[in-house]
Amino acid sequence: MKGIVLAGGTGSRLHPLTIAVSKQLLPVYDKPMIYYPLSTLMLAGVREFLVITTAADEPGFRRLLGSGEQWGLSIQYAVQAEPNGIAEAFLIGEQFIGTDQTALILGDNLFHGGGLPEMLQKAVTNTSGATVFAQEVSDPERYGVVSFDGSGQAIKVEEKPVSPESNWAVTGLYFFDQQVVEIAKTISPSARGELEIASVVDAYLQAGDLRVGQFGRGFTWLDTGTFDSMVSASEFVRVIEQRQDTKIGCIEEVAWRMGWISDAQLAELAAPLVKSGYGRYLQRLLTARSANGPS
Ligand code: DAU
Repeated sequence: MKGIVLAGGTGSRLHPLTIAVSKQLLPVYDKPMIYYPLSTLMLAGVREFLVITTAADEPGFRRLLGSGEQWGLSIQYAVQAEPNGIAEAFLIGEQFIGTDQTALILGDNLFHGGGLPEMLQKAVTNTSGATVFAQEVSDPERYGVVSFDGSGQAIKVEEKPVSPESNWAVTGLYFFDQQVVEIAKTISPSARGELEIASVVDAYLQAGDLRVGQFGRGFTWLDTGTFDSMVSASEFVRVIEQRQDTKIGCIEEVAWRMGWISDAQLAELAAPLVKSGYGRYLQRLLTARSANGPS
């Protein structure tokens, strides 16, 4: 399974914040926004990534994430010249994807909740069709919306419908089989001129090949594309992290818990981060494990 993190776009809804800095590099409390979606796909077991961004922002992502080797990952980079739509990720990523399945996550989406790794790992084991996740929201017209028939069967996926037929928003986390590149090639730009991810998802639905997982009310899904939602996301992360003494979206921790880096490698990653407290958290993970024995 290959992973694509889409981190392009103009960020115009966050100007002037994003004139000089990519939205997905902005902080969400104690780490750059992209750490959250990247760590989510890592929890699904994905280790090979393509980060798609703009030409201007690519050097910043390379500086932050490098080759990914330090976390037991492989990270490649590609440029989306214009924000032509989310589904363009599959055209840009065609070579990277090859004959594999693909997980796509939007660089401004944050997922948190019990059972997430299990849900993701289950999506990965489905080798045919597509899996998306939906959650009820108060403002579905801002999202891709999935509607269901009386028996709970998904019947339609629409992008930002003026009159939504349900309040189930499709989140920015998608798992596709090998057909996705060919399907993306068949879709046409929408009225707003974008290759819509909702069109790709709807194509799978119409072919009878779509699974829709529902995130319940105990689960948190946030997107961080406006001033207010960025502050809310930061506050959410701060409250949980301080209360529970755990970190959300901590790439180093996920890599270590997945067994992709050793204790010694985690200690090495922690050392230069000690001054901010982030490194001390990583060091505490090692101490806790040696105190409690292997987990
Ligand atoms: O957050 C979930 C929603 O994300 C879904 O429900 C929608 O179906 C999906 O279209 C998307 O809606 P948004 O209005 O949030 O999309 P936005 O244009 O904000 O783009 C989402 C992220 O993808 C953002 O971080 C920028 C990046 N992006 C977007 C486009 C259109 C790109 O990198 N390139 C693009 O061409």
